[in-house]
Formats: sequence, structure tokens, C-alpha cells
Amino acid sequence: MQMGWRAYNLTSDGQHGLGNWSEDQLASYLSTGVASGKGPASGPMAEAVEHGLRYMTQEDIAAMVTYLRSLPPIAEGPVAHPMPSGGAGALDAVARRGEGLFAQACAGCHLPDGQGRQSAWAALGGAHSVSDPAGDNLVQVLRTGTALETAQGRVFMPGFSKAYTAEELAAITAYVTAHFGNTQTDIKASAFKN
Ligand code: HEC
Repeated sequence: MQMGWRAYNLTSDGQHGLGNWSEDQLASYLSTGVASGKGPASGPMAEAVEHGLRYMTQEDIAAMVTYLRSLPPIAEGPVAHPMPSGGAGALDAVARRGEGLFAQACAGCHLPDGQGRQSAWAALGGAHSVSDPAGDNLVQVLRTGTALETAQGRVFMPGFSKAYTAEELAAITAYVTAHFGNTQTDIKASAFKN
């Protein structure tokens, strides 16, 4: 854990780690902070991309991909789920409340289907953060926001702690993890307090 953010499993395990990422997805994520179908880098990972990785040569990125590929699989940490096709199924009352709040607060940038408006960085499907039952990075991104300087300009998400109550933010996490990550979470309002 780094300042409340979780660094996800980077080993070649297919479910917990990066084993089912293609070479192109890995290279894209490292050098631009986003990979199609895998979500964006945010928080400290976005900073690593912004300040270092995006200046590396293609050869160095390729060498890093080879290195990541070589890490023996370890089945530890949350599993990254692909976005459920056809939605998450029945939502409980809290997640339904979150659905309404998502339409209001989030869909302007992420679109109701999570595909992202204008920028690939706002595509949520496949992001590890939305299928982590503990929701550490989801909580962090909602509390503090995140930003990343890209070749196409700056992409940015504000924090929501001032505009929404802790209960509302917990409801949003219940919806986001169910709908985009096919994962039931029980992230409490207290995660958004103090
Ligand atoms: C102003 C546009 C904007 C709004 C509003 C916004 N986001 Fe984002 N969000 C982004 C962008 C851009 C990124 C990628 C940022 C990055 O790569 O650093 C992102 C990233 C994310 C991520 C991915 C984090 C990760 O590391 O996998 C999640 C989850 C997320 N947003 C959820 C939400 C939710 C829930 C809301 C509503 C409460 C919301 N966003 C509102 C623009 C926005």
C-alpha cells in the first residue's frame, strides 16, 4: 500500500496478475497510462507514467514488458474481472442509489456504459480497481481525484469528497464495482470519512 493506494499483482498469473494482458496492452499501459480493456493508471501509477515511463524508449518499454512476463505467477490479491456483458444483473437498494448518483456525477466523463467520453483514459471496463472487493483504489480516486499528462493533453478527474456525502460515495462504489467489475463489495461510508 502506498498512501492508501494498492499496487496490484504484477506477476504473470492470469487472473490476479497480468498474465492475460497482451504485449500491446502492457506496453500501452506503461507508456501512456491506459490499455484498451484494462482501464487507466491513476494515483501513484499515473505519476509514475507521467514523470518517467512515458519518456522511456520503445526498447526500454519492451524490456520492461519482457521482465513483467518473466515474473512467476502468484495467485494473490484481487482478481480483475472483465466488464460483465449485459450489465451486472439485479442491484440491491444501495447500488441502485449509486446508479442514480453515477448518472449525475460520473457519466458526464465516463458515459453510462463506462466507455469514456472523448478520452480512452476514462474507460472503466476491465480496470482492476473496479473488481477489487476492498475497493482501496476506487475509494482513493473518489476521495482525491487523479490526473495524468498524456500526449493528447491532460486527463483529469476531480475528487468528490466535498460535493457528495460519505454515504453517497459508498453507494457509488457499490454500483461501480457491481456494474463494471462484476464484484459485490461492502465498502462502508467510513472509508470516506476523516
Ligand atoms: C471530469 C471527468 C471525470 C469525472 C466527472 C469522473 N471521472 Fe473518473 N476518471 C476520469 C479520468 C480522465 C480518469 C483516468 C485518470 C487517470 O488516468 O489518471 C478516471 C479514472 C477513474 C477510475 C479508474 C481508476 C483506476 O485506477 O482504475 C474510476 C474507477 C473512476 N474514474 C470512477 C469515477 C466515478 C465513480 C466518478 C463519479 C463519482 C468519476 N469517476 C467521475 C474522469 C472523470
